[in-house]
Amino acid sequence: MLLEAHKIFANLSWILLIVILISRPLAEIVGNKILFRFLRYRKRMGIACGLAAISHVVFFLIGSGLLGVYFSDPMFWSPNTFFGWGSLALVAMFFPLLTSNNFSLRYFGRHWKKIQRLAYLVFVATAVHVAMVKNDWLTVVAPTTVWLLLWVWAEIKRVKKNSANNIEKYC
Ligand code: HEM
Repeated sequence: MLLEAHKIFANLSWILLIVILISRPLAEIVGNKILFRFLRYRKRMGIACGLAAISHVVFFLIGSGLLGVYFSDPMFWSPNTFFGWGSLALVAMFFPLLTSNNFSLRYFGRHWKKIQRLAYLVFVATAVHVAMVKNDWLTVVAPTTVWLLLWVWAEIKRVKKNSANNIEKYC
């Protein structure tokens, strides 16, 4: 039962992570008002994503009777195992999760975004984790490529917009 539930939380967390990361560049590219409004919910989705990931890990560890050895067994921290990549994702997720609120946004100011960028590391580590579990790289190469392309496209659009604004300002 617990071992079945951990998979549901695992997939929920992975899907939320993809939606969170893809929504910003997509909104910037499409320039759609509804999509921009959707971005407001990203903090809440980040919390749901983190809680789902924690539930996945806790349910798995309790269900398999490995909770007691999680921190001491090197298998859970080795980059050669899918556990190690999952643990890296979990640790990296901790900081954006704790600061995913308006109080932290005010407290950390311009550094807040830097903390939230750890979500990229969470994404890559989870992608490797899932690919190793499923022994199928396509399931993770597809969302990672889509995200990367959208991110580069949005960055190019932003740079072009900034340079057009600068030209207008100085002409
Ligand atoms: C941010 C952290 C993590 C995320 C988002 C995540 C996500 C996922 C996903 C999407 C799967 C594939 C589920 C499926 O087969 O349908 C999975 C599998 C698995 N994960 Fe994680 N994981 C994370 C961390 C961890 C950690 C730290 C552990 C170990 C303590 C772990 C243990 C497992 C196990 C054992 C499976 C294999 C399930 C199976 O097919 O039997 N995960 N994880």
